[in-house]
Amino acid sequence: MHATAQAQPNIALVKYWGKRDAALNLPAAGSLSITLDALHTRTRVRFDDSLDADDIALNGEHDATQTRKIDAFLDLFRARAGIATRAHVESGNDFPTGAGLASSASGFAALAIAVDRALRLELDAHELSMLARRGSGSAARSIFGGFVEMAPGTRADGEDAFATPLLDARAWPLKVVVAVTSRKKKAVDSRAGMETSQRTSPYYRDWIATVPGDLDAARSAVQARDFEKLGAVSEASCLAMHAVMLATRPALIYWNGATLECIQCVRALQADGTGVFFTIDAGPQVKAVCLPDDATRVADALRAVTGVEEVLISGLGEGARIVEDAHACA
Ligand code: DP6
Repeated sequence: MHATAQAQPNIALVKYWGKRDAALNLPAAGSLSITLDALHTRTRVRFDDSLDADDIALNGEHDATQTRKIDAFLDLFRARAGIATRAHVESGNDFPTGAGLASSASGFAALAIAVDRALRLELDAHELSMLARRGSGSAARSIFGGFVEMAPGTRADGEDAFATPLLDARAWPLKVVVAVTSRKKKAVDSRAGMETSQRTSPYYRDWIATVPGDLDAARSAVQARDFEKLGAVSEASCLAMHAVMLATRPALIYWNGATLECIQCVRALQADGTGVFFTIDAGPQVKAVCLPDDATRVADALRAVTGVEEVLISGLGEGARIVEDAHACA
């Protein structure tokens, strides 16, 4: 009753920020993302009859809040398997955790795949995406590789709220240059932030109303491999989400000075004809999505921006999968 899985973070191009049901973690609108290949979460799960409680180590640390969250997540699988057995979970990331690099997406996707195998449930990818969503909305997308669309669904039980692959990574091998401007854990996590935005931001309803149109535009840009159109809609979705965040009370300001410098750097590159656009999540890192031939130029330019601590170049990667049963990274 053990298995090890690996998953990669995904970056939303059409963003998810707000829920239609908090208990089932149902998004208020759809989203569209790309799964990365250069950052990894590896998770090992072992069910053990002798345990009285789940034993959970994330990046080598035991944290009470995370343990409660993962406990509840494991219960969803235990209910399906009809067992009460507790588990050892060891999970590690080879990138900063909780810093706007989508560690919860890869974390819950890897956990869902590992638990499914350990318990021999053999759930299909859509069921796994739905279960991953219960851990974190963005995790539903990391079950798949390449370009992925998350459906918000309309059913109250959430059975139609799962992700679906849109286009294989190899069919349009874009690159993502990640400019890390801070490794600190963010002050307000996505879950708490979006709940406050939903309650207090005067722009929240207008933001949700923009998503279906943005999704249509992004989906057709992906299908047509239209980089310029995808860039325009992605930057607009990102900035609209950050406008909602800024207008939240109290304000959610996830950017630092270097974040804005990176945006200006991407704009200058665009003006020079470089194939690049930016997107930013609930954190200060800037992700510059670019055409493969332009990745080195974009990375060099972002590395030269004051305040950028590190630049990573990633391709697009596969979805979550079972790997050799070895120790978790970290
Ligand atoms: C800004 O998926 O972390 O990265 O469902 O509450 O766990 P929960 O939120 P989470 O939010 C991601 C927010 C975002 C945008 C996105 O990835 O779509």
